[in-house]
Amino acid sequence: MNIAVIGAGYVGLVTGACFAELGNHVTCIDVDEQKIKNLQQGIVPIYEPGLDAMIASNAAQDRLHFAMNLNEMSMLPNIIFIAVGTPSDETGLADTKYVLRAAEHIGASLNDYCVVVDKSTVPVGMADQVAAVIQRELDKRVSPIVFDVASNPEFLREGNAIDDFMQPDRVIVGLDSARAKQILLDLYVPILRHPERLYFMNIKDAEMTKYAANAMLATRISFVNEIALLCEKMGADIEQVRIGMGSDARIGPAFLQAGCGYGGSCFPKDIRALIKMSEQHGVDPLVLNAVEVRNHLQKQFLFNKIKQIFGEDLSQIKLAIWGLSFKPGTDDMREAPSLVLIEEAMQHGAHMMAYDPVAMPHARQIFPQTWLASNQLVLCDHQYDALKEADALILVTEWKPFCYPDLAMMKHLMRRHLVIDGRNQYDPKQLRAAGFEYYGVGRG
Ligand SMILES: NC(=O)c1ccc[n+]([C@@H]2O[C@H](COP(=O)([O-])OP(=O)(O)OC[C@H]3O[C@@H](n4cnc5c(N)ncnc54)[C@H](O)[C@@H]3O)[C@@H](O)[C@H]2O)c1
Repeated sequence: MNIAVIGAGYVGLVTGACFAELGNHVTCIDVDEQKIKNLQQGIVPIYEPGLDAMIASNAAQDRLHFAMNLNEMSMLPNIIFIAVGTPSDETGLADTKYVLRAAEHIGASLNDYCVVVDKSTVPVGMADQVAAVIQRELDKRVSPIVFDVASNPEFLREGNAIDDFMQPDRVIVGLDSARAKQILLDLYVPILRHPERLYFMNIKDAEMTKYAANAMLATRISFVNEIALLCEKMGADIEQVRIGMGSDARIGPAFLQAGCGYGGSCFPKDIRALIKMSEQHGVDPLVLNAVEVRNHLQKQFLFNKIKQIFGEDLSQIKLAIWGLSFKPGTDDMREAPSLVLIEEAMQHGAHMMAYDPVAMPHARQIFPQTWLASNQLVLCDHQYDALKEADALILVTEWKPFCYPDLAMMKHLMRRHLVIDGRNQYDPKQLRAAGFEYYGVGRG
């Protein structure tokens, strides 16, 4: 098939590369000229395991192209995916202006029937707006071309995106046209080892499914974080409790790890958008509000622990931070718990040395240059460099290289042998036996 993907970000690039890998001809379109130029030269703007190689091999096979405009495609597309960002607007709702601009561009460029598929996470009812904008642009050209709009929300996880895309648990497609259904069936059936996991439904049902799924996962995280706080006060260990809870077949173990809160480009903005949508439609979002408030507080957990241990004035304190990305496997730092910790510690005068296996280039752009120039925040080249003379190590992101730290080296490098484990990654008994003070999240 001939496919266009509008938006060459995380979702767009993974979608484009994977469909090309399956033998389709794909063009990824983006308004960011530099991004497109870089991609044409094989420079991939994000870190995602396996993505660079997949893009390179499909570009070399002439199946994957990058352009700024649909008109640059050599063949007319059968399917156009919209995979642009839908960040929060100032009210908390999803900002749909990028989706609507993409729709305008489609309407202005369409030369034959095609299915326009919303992959971006969009408010319920957005497909109708996308269709109206495309039709408006076609009318301007007095064009008789027909098209269909479908919703195909994306569920990939950054850090595991290619596997998630190639072996999805399920694919959700919302549509109301038999012609579009056949095209999407042909597109997806080769990916699905269990074709019954391709769920067709109404468009609005598909749009809502994405928000509801993210909200459910965020709810589990906030719930377990709240239980962890209670465990800490009452002498129970959340690590045992979550295993006990998760072994109940009705509950299951996924998304029950206590930690320093969820971040990333999806959960926070999608929960905010769902809260706003609820309010707009007269539904009091009691559960969703609680999920968000708990997460906001949980992101302050690590800094509160530091204050408990060192007091308010941190000007003589050096903190080592392992992990900056919002989760392992990605360089994405959007709404990462590390940002909250570093900001708070900065305001209290702490000196920080931070290391992340892949997010350092992003970190250099994100943090204010004044912090870096003054050396109050030092971005280190190696995980053990961050420990020199440190009064505490704070594990924020559970990257694999942090799993089995060299405890002897840590003792040698650190001024105070103190570990604050924001992901309950370490065995408290082992660390204490090695002479470390240890604090986890909800560990009695
Ligand atoms: N990142 C994830 O893990 C993930 C997972 C599932 C769903 N989603 C959803 O997918 C959507 C895309 O997310 P993302 O993380 O890939 O975003 P992103 O910010 O990484 O990329 C979006 C891209 O769209 C481009 N763009 C914006 N307007 C454009 C236009 N009019 N024409 C062409 N390109 C345009 C931007 O330049 C950018 O490169 C969002 O709605 C998000 O909620 C994201």
